[in-house]
Amino acid sequence: MAEILSKKPRHIAFIMDGNGRWAQQRGLPRTAGHAEGGKTFRAIADACLDRDIEVITFFAFSTENWKRPKLEIAALMKLLNRYLVDWFSEERAKNTRVHFLGDTTPFSEELRDLIARAEQTGENISHHLNIALNYGGRADIAQAANKLLSERILTGNPSPVTEDEITLALSTGEMPPVDLLIRTGGEMRISNFLLWQSAYAELYFSDTLWPDFSAEELDRAIDWFSGRDRRYGGLNQK
Ligand code: IPE
Ligand code: IPE
Ligand code: MG
Repeated sequence: MAEILSKKPRHIAFIMDGNGRWAQQRGLPRTAGHAEGGKTFRAIADACLDRDIEVITFFAFSTENWKRPKLEIAALMKLLNRYLVDWFSEERAKNTRVHFLGDTTPFSEELRDLIARAEQTGENISHHLNIALNYGGRADIAQAANKLLSERILTGNPSPVTEDEITLALSTGEMPPVDLLIRTGGEMRISNFLLWQSAYAELYFSDTLWPDFSAEELDRAIDWFSGRDRRYGGLNQK
């Protein structure tokens, strides 16, 4: 038992994919799939907190998702707005710190105000909930590089950049790296999500469309994770 417990992931990241197909299969507009996906997001965030997962990250909108129709983007932002407003009245908000990963400057002032408020909520922080919004893994690494470059120019420090410095300069800062990366919707790709942070993540790909993803499947993914032998390039520990 202790063995299994010690293998619980500290950080689970989700690529919530398949909302559009879920809706299309039912003859509904894609936005109906996002609305249903929003409910799943709520349920899975709660399930992770119940299971005492320290850090959870959800991919809500990628830097590439601007290629989608304006109406679909607007519907996604409206949903996010609603979930943030609800968040403030929740018990969970007291011990969970919300962080937004990605560049939120293109969003409306109203949404940015809500984001700023959400990021300040929480008293006794034991859990972290990251929402990746207008996020790209490459953009994250580039902004970390630029941050370190400006510091070096300012201080005249010529030393080479280290991996640890890059890790800390990323949007995830001191959070642990991704242990378990779950992608629903059948595609087996990373789609520019947490590239650096997932270097040694165990990858769980599921054909389930995100609106149908459940706490039971989350448990199956966590069980599967506990059975992995994470060698990090070394030899089997057993
Ligand atoms: C949700 O799934 C991902 C978001 C960008 C919010 P999709 O909207 O990509 O659904 P599919 O892949 O078209 O089914
Ligand atoms: C990844 O899903 C982005 C999010 C879940 C927000 P996409 O549906 O945008 O990914 P691709 O286009 O299939 O790679
Ligand atoms: Mg998709």
